[in-house]
Amino acid sequence: MRYHQAIVVGGGLAGLRATVALLERGVEVALFSKVHPLRSHSVAAQGGINAALGNHPEGRDDSWERHAFDTVKGSDYLADQDAVVLMCREAPARIEEMNRWGCPFSRFDDGRIAQRPFGGAGFPRTAYAADKTGLALLTTLYEQLLRLRQIPLRAGLLTVYEEWIVTVLAAEEGTCCGLVALDIRGGEMEAFQAEAVLFATGGAGRLYAHSTNAVINTGEGLAVAYWAGAALKDMEFIQFHPTTLYGTNVLISEAARGEGGVLLNSRGERFLAHYETSRRAMEIAPRDIVARNLQTEILEGRGFEGGYVHLDLRRLGADLIKDRLPGIRELALNFAGIDPIDEPLPVQPGQHYTMGGIACNVRGETALRGLYAAGEAACISVHGANRLGGNSLLDTLVFGAAAGEQMAAYIRGKTPHPDVTSGRVVADLLREEAQWVDRLATSSGKEDPTPIREELKETMIARVGIFRSAPELQAALTKIKELQERYRLIRVRYRGRKLNYELVGALELKGKLDLAEVIVQGALAREESRGSHFRADFPHRDDAQWLKHTLAVCTPDGPQLRDQPVTLGYWTPEKREY
Ligand code: FUM
Repeated sequence: MRYHQAIVVGGGLAGLRATVALLERGVEVALFSKVHPLRSHSVAAQGGINAALGNHPEGRDDSWERHAFDTVKGSDYLADQDAVVLMCREAPARIEEMNRWGCPFSRFDDGRIAQRPFGGAGFPRTAYAADKTGLALLTTLYEQLLRLRQIPLRAGLLTVYEEWIVTVLAAEEGTCCGLVALDIRGGEMEAFQAEAVLFATGGAGRLYAHSTNAVINTGEGLAVAYWAGAALKDMEFIQFHPTTLYGTNVLISEAARGEGGVLLNSRGERFLAHYETSRRAMEIAPRDIVARNLQTEILEGRGFEGGYVHLDLRRLGADLIKDRLPGIRELALNFAGIDPIDEPLPVQPGQHYTMGGIACNVRGETALRGLYAAGEAACISVHGANRLGGNSLLDTLVFGAAAGEQMAAYIRGKTPHPDVTSGRVVADLLREEAQWVDRLATSSGKEDPTPIREELKETMIARVGIFRSAPELQAALTKIKELQERYRLIRVRYRGRKLNYELVGALELKGKLDLAEVIVQGALAREESRGSHFRADFPHRDDAQWLKHTLAVCTPDGPQLRDQPVTLGYWTPEKREY
């Protein structure tokens, strides 16, 4: 069995930032990722990262307090306000750090980091690197890992396990002590003992059809933590991005609207003016509101055949599009054969972000001692019922660093060698887990993973999407339970063990089904409309009953739900119109 002081699962921004924090503190780290870290989903982030830098000519009066207020209001008052304040106060320092490390941010003529308007923001505060901000940040952080590896004092402190999937966590008396993982390339299961484990495994977008998420975003990190005893928080809040390319649901960044692009229905109207919730901010109202109003246009017959509206960027002109939105243009040309310089883009809402996640505090600590969470996999909660665009990249840097720092402190306070008892726990777990994966790999059941996965995705988009109601959610739950039953008879046709992605998909599917159940149970329980969760049968926000988080814990009978109060203290909930 292998031993590492710290294990970080997930090679995206949160995982890399935590790894940098651990290495800087002299902690020995293993970084696990299903793909090469530079292919993590963070790389696909487009529009930018929020911080009250005050660099934009119209943003001189911006402040972290205003950023925090916008975030809380954007969250429909479900975010924990102390956590939001911490994130927004720290934002400028995190941007400056990335700047110092060489991140190629776009600049104003005077050399300062450029900022652009984004949804729900009172000032233009989104810093960016054209429309490839995730790529710029991720490569910058990866360079930091390479730099730290060169420093003699830190040499040998980092091991990277690329193309490994973690299938189960080991815990002893409420303390996480390691994990079991499958080497996707080699096909073997292995056990790893560790003092502390961080899950920064991203969201669960691939539970849905029509998602902007990479195929790796299957949510199994959330499922593995849930099975091990960590609670999942606010899972009913699923974000739909208003503008994904019709046909493929590739993301068309909010930056396109922030730079001045407009949304038009089939009558050529800027329909957002017709809705109370978006009539002032129009295209840069928060995305829950824009997505809902856009979907209403489609449902009420004012969209185009097939179900989309137009995003018109022609008014921006060729120079601006080439300079600030080159990635959007490239995507539109490659995936739709449309040049946004000349023609409007067909767009529709698509699943984009998982606001809920592994319940943890601002230091990343979960209910399981020694288990930490950060990034989209975590729910701290700074996004509440609706995340503002540009706040997720910020979340990864602020709370990735905080989780890494806290893990280092925790590990320093422990006996610095592998514990014999927990070693036995991890070894036993490996035996059990390897047997179950062998059974799965050689089963002669009659169910293939693909139809189950596809039926799940279609159910989630059709019945647990932008608009929800009790009958639809009940129907979704019945379907999920049917799929869970069918999963018991699952078989994997390809019998080889090396690079067996059918097997990996079958493993991930178990987690997807359980997460879907949690999402639906949370959505059924929450009899109100707040942020991204809109119940047609309960169309109003109900602060008296529902200004609280939902926590789900795993039991043999499915998820058990309880509430947790929202931390207020700064702003009182008010009506949300933009
Ligand atoms: O539209 C976008 O560029 C997405 C940004 C975000 O989700 O934060």
